[in-house]
Amino acid sequence: MNLSVTIAGVTLANPIVTASGTFGFGREYGEYLDLNEIGAIAVKGLTLEPRAGNPSPRIAETYAGILNSVGLQNPGVDLFIDYELPELKKYRCKVIANIAGSTIEDYCAMAEKLDGTDVDMLEMNISCPNVKEGGVAFGTDRRMVETITKAVRARTTKPLIVKLSPNVTDITEMARAAEAGGADALSLINTLLGMAIDVKTRRPILANIVGGMSGPAVKPIAVRMVYQVANAVSLPIIGMGGVTCGDDAVEMMLAGASAVAVGTANFMNPTACLDIKRELVSYMENNGISDVAELVGGVRV
Ligand SMILES: Cc1cc2nc3c(=O)[nH]c(=O)nc-3n(C[C@H](O)[C@H](O)[C@H](O)COP(=O)(O)O)c2cc1C
Repeated sequence: MNLSVTIAGVTLANPIVTASGTFGFGREYGEYLDLNEIGAIAVKGLTLEPRAGNPSPRIAETYAGILNSVGLQNPGVDLFIDYELPELKKYRCKVIANIAGSTIEDYCAMAEKLDGTDVDMLEMNISCPNVKEGGVAFGTDRRMVETITKAVRARTTKPLIVKLSPNVTDITEMARAAEAGGADALSLINTLLGMAIDVKTRRPILANIVGGMSGPAVKPIAVRMVYQVANAVSLPIIGMGGVTCGDDAVEMMLAGASAVAVGTANFMNPTACLDIKRELVSYMENNGISDVAELVGGVRV
């Protein structure tokens, strides 16, 4: 059975990826599962300088999901390069550095710093709904998506994944813009902007008032967007949004994803990535599939 997939020239031993911001820098999960068995680890979103993130509370449970307004808390790209990356590179999994910033120059500077390291791929987060400036502002304007992708593309030789926002009217426009700007792959979806109110206090539950919605409740939206984007561009897609079990991963691949990222499910079950991988293998065995790539875009319409 072949579980390996190749995305932008990088071969992952299997299509299971951790979604940025839900798996720390990998080591936090090391006591629960063997990181060698994961296809790729997308690390917590990095910024040029360390960030403390937003005030608490910044997580709220919802029906079949969560709202978060973490706001890109991270130790900064330099500390990642010096301390976290060497630890992660001890494992067989590929390493995806997720980057975010307030200006195009921030993204470019990080891309340049990471270019000289042994990260396998860069994932450009232009879709974070939880920061005041930058973030999602870059990912909701077609011209801006193309401009920032072009600028970052020029500053790195690493395969470049552009992470798209679902908070747009037509996600295929953004996908085409990223392709025009020189992206090598796309990942989608980031979280959907949401809000929750405590009816006893009549105050928003999140200190930030609004936050990003993720988890099983968003899966049908993610599958729809992956399907639309797969039919609009020729770039490989890392699909995510609510994937919780093997069948969810299969569904994402049938919609057109070449690999599948697992996010919120890691909080409910720290071994989710490997459970999902095992269930994916069972699906392949039960359905006579010898190569996981056969699933990609296999939906019958
Ligand atoms: C607590 C939390 C933090 C996140 N942080 C990031 C981040 O730093 N960078 C990023 O690109 N996406 C971030 N995301 C979005 C996830 O990577 C993913 O796109 C989204 O949660 C949908 O997948 P899921 O439903 O499986 O969680 C975060 C999500 C959550 C729940």
